[in-house]
Formats: sequence, structure tokens, C-alpha cells
Amino acid sequence: MKKLTARPSPLFITCASLLLACSQGNSNTIYIGIGVAQTSNVALLGQEQVAGAKIAEKYFNDKGGVDGTPIKLVFQDTGGDEQGAINAFNTLINQAQVVGIVGPTLSQQAFSADPIADRAKVPVLGPSNTAKGIPQIGDYVARVSAPMAVVAPNAVKAALKQNPNIKKVAVFFAQNDAFSTSETETFQTTVKDMGLELATVQKFLTTDTDFQSQATNAINVKPDLIIISGLAADGGNLIKQLRELGYKGVIIGGNGLNTSNVFSVCKALCDGVLIAQAYSPEYENEINKAFREAYRAQFKKEPPQFSAQAFTGVQVFVDSLKVINSQAKVSQKPVAELRTQLNQQLLGGKYDTPLGEISFTPEGEINQKDFYVAQIKMDADGKNGKFEFLK
Ligand code: ALA
Repeated sequence: MKKLTARPSPLFITCASLLLACSQGNSNTIYIGIGVAQTSNVALLGQEQVAGAKIAEKYFNDKGGVDGTPIKLVFQDTGGDEQGAINAFNTLINQAQVVGIVGPTLSQQAFSADPIADRAKVPVLGPSNTAKGIPQIGDYVARVSAPMAVVAPNAVKAALKQNPNIKKVAVFFAQNDAFSTSETETFQTTVKDMGLELATVQKFLTTDTDFQSQATNAINVKPDLIIISGLAADGGNLIKQLRELGYKGVIIGGNGLNTSNVFSVCKALCDGVLIAQAYSPEYENEINKAFREAYRAQFKKEPPQFSAQAFTGVQVFVDSLKVINSQAKVSQKPVAELRTQLNQQLLGGKYDTPLGEISFTPEGEINQKDFYVAQIKMDADGKNGKFEFLK
């Protein structure tokens, strides 16, 4: 008679086939993918996402994971381009066999990598993708990062509140970046809707380091306000060069500049820049208190938006897995079934997160209530700075 061998549990098969995470985990573990930029210029944003995700991993595992089953984050570096994100997503989906992915960092990467997860029926939560059209990529794509169409106008309103004499505006955007081209549309519409004069629109590339000609063009129209849609390294350099060339008016930075990592680029010249925020460290609820304390203990500063959003992405997966687990043990489910259930569950839930209470539209767009504006305050020597939230 043929000898019967014991059949491993579905998650054991998952673990046995893992090249990445299995050596670190055990069969009774739920793997969640974190596919963000750990290298390249985009790591200026991505490293804040890694920090937030790691705090979430510890926080939820300290609370028992998914009702006793620990979670394990599988980190896969996307770098800063599309191919890097595609490779990372493929590895997380096919080798690490994660139940879902928090990532990628850029909208530009999401438009290439998210369709792969969507076709594989693996839920994706965009932690920072704020361009128009992200949730519409597919049924398995949602985001915890509110779109710029909702967030960005707040910065223009704050600039006018501080400086009611603003009339003339110059707008800059990175033309090779999907998020920046999307965000600038919102900024340009807001400027016109508020009755301001859009005096010039200047284009650059996220790979540029020299902005002399565009900066001079803008300064020549004598703007009272300059609005920049780019990423941290290029955006920081542009701010620096505008100030060095003598621009004294107000500057608004977009979401790609929303990191204290710009401080080391524009140093003292970052001072005064206004940036809209989808997170406030002072938001009062229990989970934000815990997140803020953990972040401050580790990094000795207030948590930034990108960390809070990455934490929230992990939380949405964990909270949803708990609901599924209350009906049938998640550790017994084949990963394909769990991915589909997780996608359905997460879209229907409500979550009390560091961003406040959030939920999703059926398409996967975030419903979020509270937004803020912060202003960069730098020490005179340009070494240290902080985001000061405006009242
Ligand atoms: N918010 C930026 C993007 O969507 C980082 O690409």
C-alpha cells in the first residue's frame, strides 16, 4: 500500500516555497509585502515608509498579531524606477507569496507595478501614491494616501491666509513624474479658482540638479508665490537655487517634498516652505499616541506623514485579517483564497488609524477627514529643522 505523507498546511507550503522570508519565519506566520524605495533618490521618501512599517510590525505583533498568528513583513527594494517596482512586486507575489503589498513609493511606479498585482489578485495598498487614477488601476488596488486633488489646495489657502497680498504665482513641476504632473494640475486649477494670476509654468526633470534657467525665468515674472511639484532631492535643490538667485516670496512644496530629508538639501534656505499634510503627529487617538511614542523613542523627532501612512497600510491589512480570522482561521487558508478575501474585506472596513478614521470607496479610494498644513522651520545654521503645523 502506498504510504500516505502528511499534507503540510497551506501556509506551510507558502513558507516552504519562500526564498526570502521563510528562513526567518515559521509556518504559522502571515507574510505582508513592503515594496518601497530603499535605494535611489526616492529612498528619501522610502526610508520613512520602512520606518513606519517596522513600527507597525512590532506594534501589532506585541498585540498578538492576527489573533495569535504573528505577521512578518517582507521588504523588497523597488529602487526609484518602474522596472525596480515591477521586479519587487513579482518577487513578493511569486516567491514570498505575501497576502498583500504596501507599496510602491511613487505613483510613477504604481502605474507600472500595480497592474501586475491586480492580475495576480494580490491586494495593494498605495502608501504614498497621490496621483489621480491610482485606485482605478484595478480591483485589487487601493490607497491610504489621500489624492493631491483633496490635499494640495489646503497649502494655497494657508499661503493666502499668511500673505493676503499674494497675486502672481509661478508653478514648477517635474514633467517626467506621474505624480508631479498630476499634482500640478490641481495646483494650477486652485490658483485660477482662487482668482490668482498664474504667471508662468516651468518644467524640470526629477533627475535635474541645475535649475538656473527655469528659476531665472520664474523670478523674472516677479511672483509672490512659487509652487513646486517634484520629489525631495530635485525639489530641495530647486528651493535652494530660487533663494540663492534672490527670490524672497512664499514657496509651497508638494507631496514629494514632504520629508525632513529635504532639510539636508536646502538647509537654512528650506525655512518657511509650506507643505500640505495628510497626517498630524498631534492627532488624538490611542493608536496614533502609540505610533508617535514608538517613533519618537527611536528617531527623537515627530513622525512624518510617509511613516504614518505606511503604518496605516500595515494596519489595514492586519485589522482586515483579524475579521477574516474570526470567521475561519487565516493560517488554514490557501494564499490565493486569502488574498481575494483580504481584498474584499479591506474595502468594506472602517479603521481607526494614526491618520484618523478612514475607510475606502468601493473603487479603493481612501475616505479621510482631516488634513493639515505645516511650515518648515530651520535653525539659522541650517543643520536642524522641523515641520511646524499651522493652526
Ligand atoms: N506622492 C508622491 C507620488 O505619488 C510620492 O508619487
